[in-house]
Amino acid sequence: MPQSTSASPYLLEIAWEACNQVGGIYTVIRSKVPAMMEYWGDQYCLIGPYFPSQAAAEFEPTDDYSDIYGQAVLELRAQGVEVYYGTWLVTGRPRIVLINPYSAFSDIPAIKYFLWEHHRIPTSNEDLLHQVLAFGSMVKRYVSLLSKKTKKLVAHFHEWMVGSCIPDLRREQVPVKIVFTTHATLLGRYLAMNDPNFYDQLTSVDWQQEARHFNIEPAVSIERAAAHGAHVFTTVSEVTVRECIYLLDRIPDTVLPNGLNIRRFTALHEFQNLHLTYKKKIHRFVMGHFFQSFPFNLDKTLYFFTSGRYEYRNKGFDLTLEALARLNYRLKKAKSDMTVVMFFITKRPFHSINPQVLHSRALMEEIQETCESITEQVGERLFYEAAASNEHKVPDLNSFVEDYWKLRYRRTVQSWKTHQLPPVVTHNLVEDQTDDILHFLRASNLVNNADDRVKIVYHPDFVSPANPLFGMEYGQFVRGCHLGVFPSYYEPWGYTPLECVASGIPAVTSDLSGFGDYVKKHVKKYTEKGIYVIDRHEKGFSESAEQLTNHLMEIVELSRRERINQRNKVESSSEMFDWKKLLVHYERAYQLALSSNI
Ligand code: G6P
Repeated sequence: MPQSTSASPYLLEIAWEACNQVGGIYTVIRSKVPAMMEYWGDQYCLIGPYFPSQAAAEFEPTDDYSDIYGQAVLELRAQGVEVYYGTWLVTGRPRIVLINPYSAFSDIPAIKYFLWEHHRIPTSNEDLLHQVLAFGSMVKRYVSLLSKKTKKLVAHFHEWMVGSCIPDLRREQVPVKIVFTTHATLLGRYLAMNDPNFYDQLTSVDWQQEARHFNIEPAVSIERAAAHGAHVFTTVSEVTVRECIYLLDRIPDTVLPNGLNIRRFTALHEFQNLHLTYKKKIHRFVMGHFFQSFPFNLDKTLYFFTSGRYEYRNKGFDLTLEALARLNYRLKKAKSDMTVVMFFITKRPFHSINPQVLHSRALMEEIQETCESITEQVGERLFYEAAASNEHKVPDLNSFVEDYWKLRYRRTVQSWKTHQLPPVVTHNLVEDQTDDILHFLRASNLVNNADDRVKIVYHPDFVSPANPLFGMEYGQFVRGCHLGVFPSYYEPWGYTPLECVASGIPAVTSDLSGFGDYVKKHVKKYTEKGIYVIDRHEKGFSESAEQLTNHLMEIVELSRRERINQRNKVESSSEMFDWKKLLVHYERAYQLALSSNI
């Protein structure tokens, strides 16, 4: 669309998570940048809040204020606002305006007064609310300044946190076309977490009563006002369309599915090699964790995982655990020689890493060092012997190892081995006794018994290179696994299975997640492509658990060759989730906004 002529439209995208990583919206905005830049080029600019520590890492100021975005920044700065202009240092390097929310804190009483006076939006005294209100008031001033420099301006707001100025932009009739996207509804998330019959109750929710009940009336009121004030109102999936209809009382004009900046390798085998490399890293963790109690065949071991915020029901941890218990029973009954290690990667308060886990790992490393020293010694002596001897037969290698090393080898191995079961949780949790995952594992005796075919590693911290147990990036961990399991009950979109697909790793999702619903409606033969969608919408818990168990069983029964083929299919289907393909939905929303005459 935009050809960069004076008549081309300008697009300003506003998000609290632009250059400010808090949660999932950051991924949406950041991964979309390269495709946006390709399409919009210099007509495109972002706005986010200025927080010095984030900006120090991701932002580079510019001296060039010559374009309309820069000009408007100078004018806003002349009004006393702390505002910066430059480049967001992410792939695509877009221009970005950063505004310090604190520079309008003295205006907060007036902002609150007028929000109520003009729009009947109540407020409270929470710090985040103050930040977003102050930020919103300055965004409004910026958009007003910008709108005087072009006749074609689209402002795309993401989430309620930047939506507080939309009602005033409309009231003051600022000439800008507004698109508002909600990535979930605030009330939807709260209700889903607290109401076991969320989907049945949805049509009869009294939004105001519930918002008051959860103490979130100001934020919900802003969300509703933004949705109603926008020229074009959008959400990210058909799953959230329902929420918008019943909780925000506006039918979204269009749906903007989430994508990724898919990076494909030119050589197909390259991502397969990466799987092997990172699987070996996971092997090390598994040896350190389990082998002191009992070894198992790593060549016949599969790594499954789930990850995400600790929302036991919403993330489908409950369903996953039930299916794992059933899988364990079935594999034992079938006398299978396969082992499944299931990782729960989430975030819970903990005191420390379990010392037993660290100790075992340290001892294993000592064994490895001992083995390396012995190998070195044997290698050197064997070489000397080969050169010096006239005989052609291989000498007795045992005689090359000094007694000291033999003893050390025996001692370290002996002190490592234990009769205790490997712990199911790697850390000492603050709420060990009331934790839902632990409660299930203990109640169902899925506690890493020697004969269990399904082993559990519950890691209540995110995987990162600084983490002593894994020492790898999350993305590397994903690549090393065989399956991601995400059968969510509530998930407006759900990036985690999509991240698996982008890495060529099969994934389980559910039809109650935006992603799963999208796959079911738009991807042909998705199961063959390694995307398993669990039916939770129509089926009850037990039936869905059985469906998940069946899928897990199928995967365990695949041969290595079949797994490699499946990974190839998964990886090649990832292209349809590339932003380059999905941007068409955004363009549709912008066209709708530009053609709106209300
Ligand atoms: C990659 C490699 C193969 C290797 C395989 C392991 O695909 O290219 O050479 O055999 O990983 O696959 P698995 O499913 O057993 O982890």
